[in-house]
Amino acid sequence: MLFTILSIMLSFSSSVLAAPLATRQETVSNVKCTGGNALDFHTVNVAQLQICGGIAGSIQKCQGAPTSTTGTSGNVQFSIKPVQAGATINISKGRWEQGIKAAFAVCGQDKPFSATFTGGASVGDVNVVLKQV
Ligand SMILES: *[C@@H]1O[C@H](CO)[C@@H](O)[C@H](O)[C@H]1NC(C)=O
Repeated sequence: MLFTILSIMLSFSSSVLAAPLATRQETVSNVKCTGGNALDFHTVNVAQLQICGGIAGSIQKCQGAPTSTTGTSGNVQFSIKPVQAGATINISKGRWEQGIKAAFAVCGQDKPFSATFTGGASVGDVNVVLKQV
């Protein structure tokens, strides 16, 4: 009886944990680790939310359809440019955060990189750079 309850609980919690990852996974390609030390964790988190004039709080995607954008805090700068000339950026916060995590998984947490994130624009993919400024 106890065993049954435990296995039901286990299968329930693992499916709850698996669902958001499966539906929100962003793929990245062309990841290049551009060198330098890891940047400050908190400053990276703030800069990450400054793209497109700000995507903090309840804002769930890039606003205003810009053709390029930067997110800067202190000495940390993210920049985004569509791969296709003339495309506009409309990346969702979920994709943005997942892509950054995937790049850090390759280069190391908070380390400078350049990468292509799949989708995120009116047409095609976006090129993303994280650097120290
Ligand atoms: C961005 O634009 C493309 C093309 O119009 C669309 O398919 C996609 O759903 C949009 N993404 C968001 C987050 O609005």
